[in-house]
Amino acid sequence: MNASATKGIVLAGGRNLRLHPATIAVCKQLLPVYDKPMVYYPLTTLMLGGIRDILIVSTPKDTPRLEDLLGDGSQWGMRLSFAVQDEPRGLAHAFIVGRDFIDDDPVALILGDNIFFGSELSRLSQQAIRDNRGATVFTYPVKDPRQFGVLRVDAEGRPVDLEEKPSIPKSNLAVTGLYVYDNEVVSVAESLRPSPRGELEITDLNRVYLKRGLLDVVQFGRGMAWLDTGTPESLLEASQFVQTIEHRQGFKIACPEEVAWRMGWLSDADLVTLADSLAPGDYGNYLRGLAAEGETV
Ligand code: DAU
Repeated sequence: MNASATKGIVLAGGRNLRLHPATIAVCKQLLPVYDKPMVYYPLTTLMLGGIRDILIVSTPKDTPRLEDLLGDGSQWGMRLSFAVQDEPRGLAHAFIVGRDFIDDDPVALILGDNIFFGSELSRLSQQAIRDNRGATVFTYPVKDPRQFGVLRVDAEGRPVDLEEKPSIPKSNLAVTGLYVYDNEVVSVAESLRPSPRGELEITDLNRVYLKRGLLDVVQFGRGMAWLDTGTPESLLEASQFVQTIEHRQGFKIACPEEVAWRMGWLSDADLVTLADSLAPGDYGNYLRGLAAEGETV
């Protein structure tokens, strides 16, 4: 599969009740995680996978706000489009909302509240996009898997069983909110029935691929970070994590301008122009510093 043909969807809606009152007037994906909006993190994860054509799906109220923030993507050498999900009808509903956008291409989905960090992220996601046969999920070991999709694998690492939020998990492998699919995903999503909670479940969709023998697994290991942002505590912890790494290394995490530049979609001069268009401050100075140091950073 050709990575450049794979499209991306960031699902950035939902009710986000656990963050009320912070999310009464604005979706959580627009709240800051330390020094930048949360949506920058999943967006740059797709970009690091080599994906340049991305659809942002959100609520009727928040979609125009996200469009205001992100624009059409041309400033980062990419194409961003926007679509409204009228109600939170489930994660797999994203493929129905995004049907026209997906067209005849494969597609990767990322949940707008998922934060990934690690040196292997880019290589592993690019490889998964290139090698995808049907569907690919990415797992992460967690202490308490009961609040996630949980995958059991056999001795060879092949998937054997997938459950959504099991009370007695059969493994410690949580299915993260990053998924890669072939073009069949639209018709598979359309064939799903809503679950008892009234949603088109991503786990049901992945089970269809599992039954067909077309579900592959990439296991992210201990060297990666996969962070939650669903509660005030986890949101604060995610901010503190980003702050700690950025202060220690001097590099920013999930800076779309930087990722676009590193992917070769922007020149040094483009980066300086973007920096100059921002209000004076740390973020713009960071971009100017990257451009000045060029390939050595
Ligand atoms: O984060 C990984 C987990 O995400 C997986 O392990 C689970 O298998 C998967 O079902 C999902 O579980 P969550 O309980 O985290 O899903 P939640 O309903 O909270 O939705 C995740 C995000 O997607 C959240 O920020 C809201 C947004 N969302 C959700 C739904 C149902 C939408 O934008 N639209 C929707 O229709």
